[in-house]
Amino acid sequence: MTFTVPNPTPVTKTPEWQALVAHATRFKGTTLKDLFREDPGRAGDMTFEVGPLHVDLSKNLADENTVRLLLNVARAKGIEDYRQALFNGEHVNTTEDRAALHTGLRVPIDQDLSVDGQDVAEDVHHTLDRMRGLAKALRSGDWRGATNHTIKNVVNIGIGGSDLGPSMAAQALRPYCTAGITPYFVSNVDPADITATLDGLDPASTLFVVSSKTFTTSETLANAHSAKRWLLDGLKRLGVDTSDDAVVNDAVAKHFVAVSTNAEEVAKFGIDTRNMFGFWDWVGGRFSVDSAIGLSLMAAIGPRDFMEFVAGFHDVDNHFYSEPLEMNAPVLMGLFGVWYTSVLNSQSHVVLPYSQDLGRFPAYLQQLMMESNGKSVRLDGELTTAETGEVYWGEAGTNGQHAFMQLIHQGTHLIPADFIGFVNPHTDHRSSDGETSMHDMLLSNFLAQSRVMAFGRTAEELREAGVDEKLVPHKVMPGNRPSSTIIADKLTPRTLGSLIALYEHICFVQGVVWGINSFDQWGVELGKKQANELLPLLGNNTDSSDVDTGDPSTDSLLRHILRNRKR
Ligand code: F6P
Repeated sequence: MTFTVPNPTPVTKTPEWQALVAHATRFKGTTLKDLFREDPGRAGDMTFEVGPLHVDLSKNLADENTVRLLLNVARAKGIEDYRQALFNGEHVNTTEDRAALHTGLRVPIDQDLSVDGQDVAEDVHHTLDRMRGLAKALRSGDWRGATNHTIKNVVNIGIGGSDLGPSMAAQALRPYCTAGITPYFVSNVDPADITATLDGLDPASTLFVVSSKTFTTSETLANAHSAKRWLLDGLKRLGVDTSDDAVVNDAVAKHFVAVSTNAEEVAKFGIDTRNMFGFWDWVGGRFSVDSAIGLSLMAAIGPRDFMEFVAGFHDVDNHFYSEPLEMNAPVLMGLFGVWYTSVLNSQSHVVLPYSQDLGRFPAYLQQLMMESNGKSVRLDGELTTAETGEVYWGEAGTNGQHAFMQLIHQGTHLIPADFIGFVNPHTDHRSSDGETSMHDMLLSNFLAQSRVMAFGRTAEELREAGVDEKLVPHKVMPGNRPSSTIIADKLTPRTLGSLIALYEHICFVQGVVWGINSFDQWGVELGKKQANELLPLLGNNTDSSDVDTGDPSTDSLLRHILRNRKR
């Protein structure tokens, strides 16, 4: 479906952008304290209910005018038409001439949505049904391995979007993994990863899910081949005759399934394509956790909870699609990110889940946001004139407080923060007094950090508290450091789906404003190609003197490796 960019004018050349920049100058000197003093209803006015998420944006460095001007910029760039094009399945991924229809992964079965002649709802639900069939068979024990054992371990082998989503979500939803299927994840081509993961697992009760959209990713294929050898060696030790091809094929069929768009390569690897779960080129890797890429997650948490997870995405899609821009949390959060990055010169964005289970969420967002918006060329091939792409990082609270929060509170960088917390824990313990809830302790830290970031502590307040004059400048907390706060009742499958969709749409909004393609990733290709070119030099070359890769630094590093390795 063809797509016409609503307004290709570079954002910085629009009058709306000029107005925003002028406002930034006037805005200087206005603090968050001033904003709350001037507008006592600010917390309520800037809080939004987004599916199961309660999103408080009031601690952002923005007044009503800032919001109005940011929305003018977004409208000038055609955000509403663009959003419609995204949901319609138009080819918004212009460099690859594809749709980016991740919202199609969660449409209800009766929704009429066809893209390039494909009935999206029917295909998506057909695949979900097949996934459900496998998950149920694994969980009930109907699926048996080559030695008739039930499956207890499901090892997903994939990388990037074929790993980060399911591994982050499996950790986040640990309390839902109750059917005796333990999910594991192998991604790195570093042999230490697969060695450590498989250590202690019983091959007879292990199923591998090889997840790769392209099925050509070298890390994944190397790990999958290694897993196949581990399986066959293990089965041999258990008395399976692995010299017989038919027995080997049967073992591979019972212990390997694939998730991919590439049936040909799946078959070449030796996996029966009847055990392949497909998705479509309109699902980007980093937008794929609720597609068949979530198969290992579904096996672990069960089909019902997986469907709740999918429903959580849909809740936020509905919000993003239909709420007016003024009340639209992903639109506002995306625009605040643009404001900080491209106007106020922030260099990064920290994400602080006050939830141990959500510890991998920052890593997940790194791919989602940085592979999507780490671009310096616009859709028309010209260089961007605004800073683009937020650098995402973070750590589960309260650990971050004892590591990097000092720099955020008192350092010289502007680092907007997202605090993510949950009203109710899955489990709680009492602290040393036997009374205080540890979850309450977590929440008190969650609340305190954004409060200190926003409102700080002045020299006068410190003097009043009797602080030694010499220490006053060191103890002043400047405050005025922006943050957004996202609270949900509990970390459930539905909440998690909503949280992910919120960031997917933030990412999209930013790409639209910056005029870049959030759905390609050409920047990672050259490294892959050159790794393939360098690999034979490591394999064959025993004489380091004739190394000539074309650059002296790589030559020197390679010689060092060749001279010093012990094989
Ligand atoms: O890192 C580049 C990338 O292409 C990602 O976009 C993708 O998620 C990852 O590699 C894995 O790709 P595949 O699923 O095709 O193995």
